Amino acid sequence: MKKLVLIFLLAGFYAAQAQSDLEQQFLALESEVIEWRRDFHEHPELSNREFRTAEKIAEHLKSLGIEVKIGIAHTGVVGLLKGDLPGKVVALRADIDALPVTERNNLPFKSKVETEFLGTKTGVMHACGHDAHTAILMGVAEILANNKDKIKGTVKFIFQPAEEGAPPGEEGGAALMIKEGVLENPKVDVIFGLHIKSTVPVGTLRYKPEGMMAAVERFEVHVKGKQAHGSRPWMGVDPIYISAKIIDGFQSIISREANLTEEAAVITVGKITSGVRFNIIPESAEMIGTVRTLNPKMKEMIVNRMREMSETIAKAYGGEATFKIQNNTAITYNDPDLVNQMLPSLKKVVGDNQVELMKATTGGEDFSFFQEKVPGFYFQLGGMTPGNTTQFAHHTPDFRIDEDGLIYGVKALTQLTLDYLNQ
Ligand code: NI
Repeated sequence: MKKLVLIFLLAGFYAAQAQSDLEQQFLALESEVIEWRRDFHEHPELSNREFRTAEKIAEHLKSLGIEVKIGIAHTGVVGLLKGDLPGKVVALRADIDALPVTERNNLPFKSKVETEFLGTKTGVMHACGHDAHTAILMGVAEILANNKDKIKGTVKFIFQPAEEGAPPGEEGGAALMIKEGVLENPKVDVIFGLHIKSTVPVGTLRYKPEGMMAAVERFEVHVKGKQAHGSRPWMGVDPIYISAKIIDGFQSIISREANLTEEAAVITVGKITSGVRFNIIPESAEMIGTVRTLNPKMKEMIVNRMREMSETIAKAYGGEATFKIQNNTAITYNDPDLVNQMLPSLKKVVGDNQVELMKATTGGEDFSFFQEKVPGFYFQLGGMTPGNTTQFAHHTPDFRIDEDGLIYGVKALTQLTLDYLNQ
């Protein structure tokens, strides 16, 4: 019995020792991670154009002795770190692209980059924090490479371009990386990823099992009527009137058919185009918009009903409608078993009370495509100075994060990886 107690004490001692070793390494790395982030922040690159960013990442991974592949999904970088002992494969993903936003602040590392985006002159800015994600994952790579003797299994570092969406006519992002085989050779068992948030205090991590972020669909409805003089509607079929009925039908799917106690759902018509002047009933009308869903069954129901509504309503009023849908992201779906298994790791990093259960959001994230293929856990990382009351909203010129949050990102991804592989 005494012997057993001694073994437990020793095991506890060594675990504590290893943890404090790691703490030392995090501490030593923090300023470097911040430097990388500032460098990326000052040199942001748009989706599928992350050439300099990719070069910096690849250079760093190579310097750590990590096997590196470049040019995945245009500008993606994938690093493979084999632990000294055999085991499972964990993928860690960071998105690396910036946005066509002109930065508005006086930070010394403010972006001065300008470009032309879809014919409009604009600044380029890391206005969503992907610079932080890139720097964090480079930090994780460094820590794990230095501890590879303690790793049972393999870590795949996925630096993903074009999370914000590829330019028109191009493929890109998570979907293209998957198509190019990023989850194979070796086959990935689970994937972890995070997003820094300018509205969540530093030192807090937020998560939600199952649907955490929405599936984003873009839809188009083409309504065909019959042109007539505006004074004689009985001679034609009015596509504008039909469009109004269809919009009404769409909103009734949300308010009367979707079980909103399960999850939220949204349909927004964002644009209607039709007609040329006040006294002509036009030939046709086009509508485009978006659907957001958090539950696969609800998504199927809503999209099917939208198609039915479009076609049958148009028919009822003597016209015709075609409904087209295009998927932009899947549901960011956190595997509930994986979440349960890994929550203690997050709690180790920031403490029990700083790991918060969050509500789902109706924004989208293309990390969801990885989660369609392998179980994944995506969570939010605090990037707001505690107590701050100013809005530094994502995707705006004023976006700002507190860099003290970065090291918690490094710790969280490192801990998840070590615990998953070594359990
Ligand atoms: Ni983002």
